[in-house]
Amino acid sequence: MPTTQIKRYPVRKNEVLQGHDSADDLILQHLLSTDLNGKRILIVNDHFGALSCGLESFDCTTYTDSYVSMMGIQSNSKQKIRPINDLSELTGFYDIVCIQLPKNMSFFEDILCHLTAHLQSHSKIICGVMVKHLASSCFDLLNKYIGTTRTGLAHKKARLIFADFQQGVVGTPYPQSVRMDSFETPFVNHSNLFSRERLDIGTRFFLEHIPQGQFESILDLGCANGIIGIKAKLLHPQAKLHFSDDSAMAIKSAKENYANHFGDEAVFDWTNCYENGPRETLDLVLCNPPFHQGNTIGDFVSSQMFQDARSALKSGGLLRVIGNSHLGYRLKLKKLFGNCRIVATNQKFVICDALKS
Ligand SMILES: C[S@@+](CC[C@H](N)C(=O)[O-])C[C@H]1O[C@@H](n2cnc3c(N)ncnc32)[C@H](O)[C@@H]1O
Repeated sequence: MPTTQIKRYPVRKNEVLQGHDSADDLILQHLLSTDLNGKRILIVNDHFGALSCGLESFDCTTYTDSYVSMMGIQSNSKQKIRPINDLSELTGFYDIVCIQLPKNMSFFEDILCHLTAHLQSHSKIICGVMVKHLASSCFDLLNKYIGTTRTGLAHKKARLIFADFQQGVVGTPYPQSVRMDSFETPFVNHSNLFSRERLDIGTRFFLEHIPQGQFESILDLGCANGIIGIKAKLLHPQAKLHFSDDSAMAIKSAKENYANHFGDEAVFDWTNCYENGPRETLDLVLCNPPFHQGNTIGDFVSSQMFQDARSALKSGGLLRVIGNSHLGYRLKLKKLFGNCRIVATNQKFVICDALKS
């Protein structure tokens, strides 16, 4: 399938964003000019299926941490490709590993550490990246865990980085245990997590403004390690907590952190926003939305989060949102809910409430 036919997930009306980039094209061009027969190939971090569909006639395994990517890969391959979403599911040895370089270098380090147990001296790593997203630390990590790197020429603002396996097997330093301000129990943070090393300043401000009230069911929408939902549960011990995130590692972290704090069961959803969540069941949704999906910046995720939150709230239910002041969430919420009230502001952030009528 030509990469130009790859569609993003979710499919949106009048979509202007592409489902592939020139790094996908460069990786495919390079690999398809070599003999791949009889080779075991691992594809890591494929965005929407350009790599997996382009190589589907070979012996490939695809790994992604993102639910949105998994759905893109599945629908573009007409359900033929079923990605794995946990690095512990890697098996045997791979001859070739092609990686769409992630933005998060801790995640990249975690991937490389896991890979060392699945590479042999002839194994080759090929990373593709758009030059504007190229982090120089990726070379240090490749040198440390894989072997000497070399780069290809840049083409259409993308570049390839090659490394042959010369090092030995190492364990991963992830997940890490991180202390968070006033929380007595440290948090377990897997590598592909928002603000995985310390408490984010927006999250800190949001934690100071968890609403009081009679809430029986609360959703932490885009939960990362679950800190917002955990704080809400500490303040509302009788409430049933729900957590959702696009990242499988976020859900894993939130599950472990919830179990380390509480004895009851919560509900965890690895999903896009809250797209398949039950309707009209929640009293409170707490949301610190992302302003990007992978490397693509935009308000499309926050817009869907607000719509999904509205559908999931009971009549009279509350959505509380934090965002950078310039993001204009207040107007968006007013348009969608017919109301929006500012709860708190500081130099950088605004917290607002929208009530479902
Ligand atoms: C700004 S972080 C907030 C994390 C956490 N709630 C906090 O306040 O510290 C946004 C979170 O949204 C998640 N996310 C990004 N795109 C998403 C999507 N399409 N559906 C669900 N979650 C998504 C990210 O993985 C990330 O954990």
